[in-house]
Amino acid sequence: MSKWVNGFSKLSKDAKIDWLSTNYIHDDHFNHHIISDSWYQNEQTQQVLEGFSENTISNFHLPFGLAPNFKINGNPYCIPMAIEESSVVAAASAAAKYWLERGGFHAKVIDTQKVGQVHFYWYGHSEKLKHHFQEIKSLLLDTTTHLTTNMVNRGGGILNIELLDKTAEEPNYYQLFITFDTCNSMGANFINTILESFAQTISDYISNCIHFSNEEKEVKIIMSILSNYTPDCLAKAWVECNIEDLGSYNNMDANELAEKFYSAVKIAKLDPYRATTHNKGIFNGIDAVVIATGNDFRAVEACGHTYAARNGKYSSLSNCSIDNNIFRFELEIPLAIGTVGGLTKLHPMAQLALQILGNPSAKTLMEIIAVVGLAQNFAAVRSLVTSGIQKGHMKMHLGNILQQLGSTEAEKAACTEYFHNKVISHSAVRDFLVSSRQEFDAKC
Ligand code: MEV
Repeated sequence: MSKWVNGFSKLSKDAKIDWLSTNYIHDDHFNHHIISDSWYQNEQTQQVLEGFSENTISNFHLPFGLAPNFKINGNPYCIPMAIEESSVVAAASAAAKYWLERGGFHAKVIDTQKVGQVHFYWYGHSEKLKHHFQEIKSLLLDTTTHLTTNMVNRGGGILNIELLDKTAEEPNYYQLFITFDTCNSMGANFINTILESFAQTISDYISNCIHFSNEEKEVKIIMSILSNYTPDCLAKAWVECNIEDLGSYNNMDANELAEKFYSAVKIAKLDPYRATTHNKGIFNGIDAVVIATGNDFRAVEACGHTYAARNGKYSSLSNCSIDNNIFRFELEIPLAIGTVGGLTKLHPMAQLALQILGNPSAKTLMEIIAVVGLAQNFAAVRSLVTSGIQKGHMKMHLGNILQQLGSTEAEKAACTEYFHNKVISHSAVRDFLVSSRQEFDAKC
């Protein structure tokens, strides 16, 4: 065996681990248990997980936390969040409690359209292709009825098919631009299957069309794939209250809080450096729920950032307004997610997460996720414009450092007391522990 390997996927799990430890883990005392400790005890569940991906040797755990007290459109929710970053769940919970006392969160789905594209090159005059498009379109629909029937029965299916002439941007380049309603599923497989069928159909049509010359019969399909940019699969969440009802926070009165908050969002609107961090704070909440519910967080992130740049400049996804003494904070975000299909019904923790949320429809889950993004953003910006975030972060960070340093409960209490008004760093905590242990030994 060497660092290069053939047929790796065919090796058993144990053989993969042996190969790994021989060739890549240069530690004589390497303990295989670190890998097997992360397996599910239930073998069947472990097998389900391993089936999601390839060359699996173990699981990579993330904390699964709960943010209770979310009132969304009048209903109570306890939000499951899978995230490793300290303070995120605490901040979401704090924002939920705060807005619970101020009427809760409001949310609605604006639209649920998904998008797919067939990219192709054609070498005739564009008007001629456009002339034939109605016929092509009927054919595209007819040849995919067997694939769409179930989705249509559920209330979804293909919404529209357009031929886009892109030849001004790239010679001979055209697109079929298709919109879909995939109901409660994210719909990636459904969409991609239809797109590949469309590609074949349009290719066959063009190559066999008796009205086309030999040159016009030439068509080159480049690719057929869904687009993760779904600006019309959009949810909106908002909170609002009278300025004085914001109350004081960290010694800042409601008026100053509202004004500084408004300015912070304005800065995130105009400065891409700040906007990126501001939006990262939104995705702290969004990704955590997207992951917990077994959805594709890469797709949601990619789409959200493109949406943030939709006006030609990367900007804040959230908005703040102060009108007639009303403070309003809102988030509009595209969310292509599902509550059936994919991991949602297979991953045991995703199933649990959906159960905690009352087994929502995809639309309700979009509303929930948008709300959590808004709550997270609210908590972060409120901290930033008042106490700063380090105070809260460091409290959680202290817990992690103490855990890493193997401190006892008594040491944890002493450290928390000692550091409550001091700057926390790994070395400062270690030094404190070393000196208090020395003091203790000297006394004994
Ligand atoms: C940290 O993960 C997220 C924040 O930086 C977001 C923000 O700055 O708005 C606190």
